[in-house]
Amino acid sequence: MPEKLIIDTDPGHDDAFAILLALASPEFEVLGLTTVAGNVPLAVTTANARRVVELAGRPEVRVFAGAERPLLRAPMHAADIHGDSGIDGYDWPVPARPHEAEHALDFMIRTLETAAPASISFLVLGPETNIALLLRRAPHLADRIRRIVVMGGGFFEGGNYAPAAEFNILVDPEAAAIVFAAGIELTAMPIDCTNRTLTPPSWIGDFRALGTPIGAACAGMMEFFQANGNRKYGTATRPLHDALAMAWMIWSELFAGRQCNVEIETNSELTRGATVVDWWYRTDRPRNCLWIRDCTDPADLYRRMFERIAGL
Ligand code: BDR
Ligand code: CA
Repeated sequence: MPEKLIIDTDPGHDDAFAILLALASPEFEVLGLTTVAGNVPLAVTTANARRVVELAGRPEVRVFAGAERPLLRAPMHAADIHGDSGIDGYDWPVPARPHEAEHALDFMIRTLETAAPASISFLVLGPETNIALLLRRAPHLADRIRRIVVMGGGFFEGGNYAPAAEFNILVDPEAAAIVFAAGIELTAMPIDCTNRTLTPPSWIGDFRALGTPIGAACAGMMEFFQANGNRKYGTATRPLHDALAMAWMIWSELFAGRQCNVEIETNSELTRGATVVDWWYRTDRPRNCLWIRDCTDPADLYRRMFERIAGL
């Protein structure tokens, strides 16, 4: 039986790759995409989610718009990384279908209400606002959730959008604190792992050579994302953060991590959004999170990802 999955997302180049990978993976049944304000405003992430499912040839996959802003803070976007469209680098058509009228939160609650215990998983690729709202509004449904996998955080690597904070956690630290404290099986794919798991130099050419719309979109997105990364990090290629979280769900044997306590800093002006990881077990705090630190074979991982996406 495929694992039932809701993808909460703010596309975003790496979100787009994660969604394509999920839709290409028979181990998962994608029940729907829920969107959040993050890389770009909500209306744009929602349209982008529609664009990606239609590119994948899966127009029937439903997209539900969620939170327009973080729980407490002012919205913060990353157009400097992803371009004004959020997925710059390809001439995306206008989505053929609209997103659903139902709010993302209502969709999540309705889905969980009729679900068996521990039967629905969440892949969270943006600020964690929607999941925090779900856990606050319907705490009695938490037992229907099988596991939550988030892309977010950084401890050994520090931050990528503030000195001590990774973008997804920085944007809505209060939401992340709720999710990390929920007591639900949780895995984090932080920049500790992703920043050292770079796409192969051949990827752009490999996708372009497919000669398909998916190949052209992936090559174009990579070109844009990579050029931006070159300026910021000085690396020739890029980590596809969100796609690595999805890849962990499929091929966890290619990663290494540790079950430990992770807390979110919400108070400090200096380190707001920091993920404080008790990697060395210096406290008795609950081991609430599987923190992924390494990909053991990036070349093999990206080869597998390419094969899946190319086969869509
Ligand atoms: C995360 O921030 C976003 O820009 C990416 O889509 C990813 O989810 C990486 O820090
Ligand atoms: Ca994202």
